[in-house]
Amino acid sequence: MNTVLVTGGSGFIGRNLVRELALRACRIRCLVRPTSRVRHLRKAGAELVLGDVNQPDSLAAAVRGVDTVFHLAGLVAASGAEALMQVNGEGTWNLARACASQPRPPVLVTVSSLAAAGPAAEGSLRRESDPPAPVSDYGRSKRAGELAALAWADRVPTTVVRPGIVFGPWDRLLLPMFRSIATLGIHPIPTFAPPPLSLIHVQDLVDVLVRAAERGTRLAKRESGPSVGEGYYFACSGRYVTYAELGRMIAQTLGRRHVFLLHLVEPLPWLVAGVTELFARLSRQPVIVNVDKMRESIQPSWAASPQAICEQLGFSEPCSLEQRLRQTVDWYRAHRWV
Ligand SMILES: NC(=O)c1ccc[n+]([C@@H]2O[C@H](COP(=O)([O-])OP(=O)(O)OC[C@H]3O[C@@H](n4cnc5c(N)ncnc54)[C@H](OP(=O)(O)O)[C@@H]3O)[C@@H](O)[C@H]2O)c1
Repeated sequence: MNTVLVTGGSGFIGRNLVRELALRACRIRCLVRPTSRVRHLRKAGAELVLGDVNQPDSLAAAVRGVDTVFHLAGLVAASGAEALMQVNGEGTWNLARACASQPRPPVLVTVSSLAAAGPAAEGSLRRESDPPAPVSDYGRSKRAGELAALAWADRVPTTVVRPGIVFGPWDRLLLPMFRSIATLGIHPIPTFAPPPLSLIHVQDLVDVLVRAAERGTRLAKRESGPSVGEGYYFACSGRYVTYAELGRMIAQTLGRRHVFLLHLVEPLPWLVAGVTELFARLSRQPVIVNVDKMRESIQPSWAASPQAICEQLGFSEPCSLEQRLRQTVDWYRAHRWV
């Protein structure tokens, strides 16, 4: 891995990945949009190429001459299913096709999501070989991205990484949860039976991504027979906590002795999600509390197995979830985010 293209380098996970690649002395190129925040990318010495995953013509110059592509560009929330599908599905298709058109196609590591695989049955762990069954528009769009990459996998050596919920420095998605606990001592929970969640600290995810590029199995063009699940990796901790437990852990880390767990009774969570979604559509500003995310939060379990990343990629968690939450809180405090 010498010359690397990162899409989504201006985002939360991307900026952490770019930092790691710079430490490894890689030559980094980032696909950015005219509106992207790029100061940290320049600081890391990255070459910037203007483009958009939905503008296929802009991608040829971005992939030219690179040996590895980390594809992180995507939408985690949008004001509609079409926008999710366009960026997460079609965008991945365009990028994989651009890779395939190279005389020596690069290794493509595409960041999907546990949502693409779908939830686990209560009491069991989801494995890469389980047939995908996404339950949300977001999950379906990420699965479309996986299938788009698969379509070019006979030309492009491709690995799909499916992270659980990612947290750590620069994360703004979980930030409201930390802020609510820090300032109000309140932790809203959208259901009375919150599912166990798969989480991963961003630094651990970055480690998994690099390992996946270097030694991950690649997608087999046919997803049947003995190779089923090959080329896919769940990226998550082996420790599973519910929203309620997560809230208590964050409170403890913040030094709060008590946190009020505000269980929202049905149909209140749907009403809240519906109102915020309406606001999102009117203002054209995506919000993370929406009906689609509610569909995910009422599932029995989001526990995925980290066995493949441990056994095949040699990943092991360097510290506990509590320590990772502590580091996150320290970072938020140092940057005055909480
Ligand atoms: N955060 C999580 O918990 C989580 C969990 C599982 C999977 N993931 C996946 O991980 C990836 C990165 O997530 P993140 O949390 O880092 O998201 P993020 O902070 O919202 O960053 C998204 C990145 O994608 C770029 N992007 C969006 N649309 C684009 C387009 N049409 N063309 C080119 N670039 C585009 C954004 O560029 P601009 O700066 O120009 O907007 C930004 O750099 C996504 O694919 C997401 O689905 C995230």
